[in-house]
Amino acid sequence: MFSKPSLTTFFLLLSSRAFQLADPEANALRLSPAKTACSDLRIADSGDHSSWATPECIVCPRSAAQVASVLQTITATGAPFAIRSGGHSPNLGWSNIEGGVLIDLSRINEITYNPLSTNVVVGTGNRWGAVYSALEAHGRTAVGGRVSPVGVGGFLLGGGLSHVSNEYGLGCDNVVDYEVVLANGTIVNANTNSHSELYWALKGGTSNFGVITRFTLKTVPMSKIWGGVITYNATQAEAVIDAIYTYQTEHISDLKSAISVQFILGAGVVLVTLMYAQSISSSPVAFAPFDSLPYNFYTTTVDMHKDMYQDILSIATDTSEKIAKYQGAALIFVAQTISPTMTAGSAKTGGNALGLPQNTNMMWVNFAAAWELPADDDAVAKACKYGIQKISRTARAKGLSRDYLFMNDAGEDQDVLGSYGSENRAGLRKVAREVDPEGVFQILETGGFKL
Ligand SMILES: *[C@@H]1O[C@H](CO)[C@@H](O)[C@H](O)[C@H]1NC(C)=O
Ligand SMILES: *[C@@H]1O[C@H](CO)[C@@H](O)[C@H](O)[C@H]1NC(C)=O
Repeated sequence: MFSKPSLTTFFLLLSSRAFQLADPEANALRLSPAKTACSDLRIADSGDHSSWATPECIVCPRSAAQVASVLQTITATGAPFAIRSGGHSPNLGWSNIEGGVLIDLSRINEITYNPLSTNVVVGTGNRWGAVYSALEAHGRTAVGGRVSPVGVGGFLLGGGLSHVSNEYGLGCDNVVDYEVVLANGTIVNANTNSHSELYWALKGGTSNFGVITRFTLKTVPMSKIWGGVITYNATQAEAVIDAIYTYQTEHISDLKSAISVQFILGAGVVLVTLMYAQSISSSPVAFAPFDSLPYNFYTTTVDMHKDMYQDILSIATDTSEKIAKYQGAALIFVAQTISPTMTAGSAKTGGNALGLPQNTNMMWVNFAAAWELPADDDAVAKACKYGIQKISRTARAKGLSRDYLFMNDAGEDQDVLGSYGSENRAGLRKVAREVDPEGVFQILETGGFKL
């Protein structure tokens, strides 16, 4: 049943070097860190532009003014385009494009910390690792990605789940100001006082309104942390999912704690990442549910519910077995425990567009699959999608299902913006009509969830 341990190494590599694999053979693997692995998923960015899609033209603007001229040119010529911040999205045509213009923001990479306000201005072309390194000297950090190669732009525009979200909320709710280049080249700042509807829309509404060139973010204090990764044999998967439930019921209220659990069922391992945002000498009580498991080297949005969690695991296991027959295929099931404090933050900063359930403990379920042969794309995608739909159906039957879909983990054919609710979607459309009356970001920009 679990017969491909060599893939473990691959996935471990992914956590640190995601999508930057220089080995051409590794590039031949197709990845889908998606809620459902959907139809044609490729590595959109290999870090050295040797990605699969071949743009006609790659532009690397250095300033908002240069982005403005690029957008004016695009609008004038009607050229299809894609925008890349860190290029983490594997969806074809999102952070890369076949035959159009790729706007690569990697040179818009300022990081300026203001010790008076404790805010940091971050260029969209940054990846989180660079932001963390720059803030470390000040004893601060940002509410950013859990994996350092992830880009700032897609993370913040999709919502953004961080290791410190339990205490400080989602990434988007820590954005104080967006510098936005609109389709006609006008540069505006969106914040609580100026363009406040656009400010609301950008918190979850992704790239539908303009090209974001700079984010001003709140920072939070951070010195030393306690943490690490425990690897379990997948034979312990049921015990691990019970430990997740116990953690969420009894310990998630310890706001310094964060967990991230990846069930790499095809490779026979479960990786439990534990992070405690404080310098402590031994494992905190919050992680006791994981300490008590025997541990050795063998190793959708639903409301928190013990039996439901087991159902999710069993569906993940079925899915993993189903795709095991395809060459090199493996499924990672990531169990993300969401606490009420993680979703409550938006009220303080003018709300966001996400339509999140409030006062609820949830799990944001993520299936991520990898496989080798293009011929298997559809079959693997279908199996993963079926699994996710089965989780939703099962949850719905028990009254535990939630509409909300977490953009940063979603498949390209999932209705993420619809999951925010009809009122929020209408609000997003209204803002888009105001800032982009010609629909440049609806029609010419290939990537992202459209309104
Ligand atoms: C997990 O445990 C089983 C049963 O003890 C063993 O056969 C298998 O090799 C272990 N898996 C890994 C990845 O070590
Ligand atoms: C650009 O678009 C914005 C939003 O629609 C509008 O307010 C602004 O007047 C436009 N600027 C120019 C120069 O047309």
